[in-house]
Amino acid sequence: MTLLNNLKNAWEDLAERDALNAILTDDSKAGGKWDVAEFMATGDAEIATVMSHLATIGHAPDFTGAALDFGCGVGRLTQALARRFASCVGVDISQQMIRQAESLNQYPHCRYVASSAARLPFDDSSFSFIYSNIVLQHVPRRFAKNYLREFVRVLAPAGVLVFGVQDSFAVPDLSSRMVRIRHILHLRSRVRVALKRGPGDMKMHCLPEPIVRRALGSSKVVDIQFTNTAARDFNGKLVYLEQAPASGYIGKQYCVVKEQ
Ligand SMILES: C[S@@+](CC[C@H](N)C(=O)[O-])C[C@H]1O[C@@H](n2cnc3c(N)ncnc32)[C@H](O)[C@@H]1O
Repeated sequence: MTLLNNLKNAWEDLAERDALNAILTDDSKAGGKWDVAEFMATGDAEIATVMSHLATIGHAPDFTGAALDFGCGVGRLTQALARRFASCVGVDISQQMIRQAESLNQYPHCRYVASSAARLPFDDSSFSFIYSNIVLQHVPRRFAKNYLREFVRVLAPAGVLVFGVQDSFAVPDLSSRMVRIRHILHLRSRVRVALKRGPGDMKMHCLPEPIVRRALGSSKVVDIQFTNTAARDFNGKLVYLEQAPASGYIGKQYCVVKEQ
């Protein structure tokens, strides 16, 4: 459990320094310069993109049910879910993130919960929709696998689960090992510069597809999209890519339906 405690402490620290820029790291917005309305609008645009895609593939969720946003931060995506679902919960490992999410909450049917336990604090089959983006990529693999199993447990039968992970890191050829090292150093230095602190706070973890599928058990993966979530210019603007990037992190968004 120490690893989860370390993760919690790192996020508490990041949230206290500059929560919005820890969530969407943008050099020009570091030091509390994110406009809150602009920041929250990125969440609405992201959820609109996801919902429109789910409708296109024939897996729109049941909006009369409850939605869960795992790793909700200050509620960028949770508030957008609250506008669409009958009820909504955001859960985060950081109390400080949850405090800020509560202060930005506009909806009585939306609530926030802090939890640093490996088991999610919800009953079986509680949610018709679960969403998580730019979270599992920061969670060590063994915990990420456990959270996938937990998502399935708390998802209602026929419920829809959508989550993003970094599948792997593409290195075009052997001579470009340096590309990977440079990319990792670049990501770390962006966060370090933005938050004016030492390295190692926001590690990236990959979760390859066979591991994801095993953790999901009998729930059905109905769709996988390549995403731009680790791209330097992501900044909350979710884009589905036509193919995997030739180099760098390969972001994948899964859509999973739980068996009836
Ligand atoms: C990059 S932020 C993304 C926040 C939100 N998903 C968004 O896109 O606006 C990652 C969030 O995940 C939370 N987090 C990290 N590990 C977690 C865990 N094991 N359980 C719950 N939340 C976690 C962090 O505290 C942080 O708020």
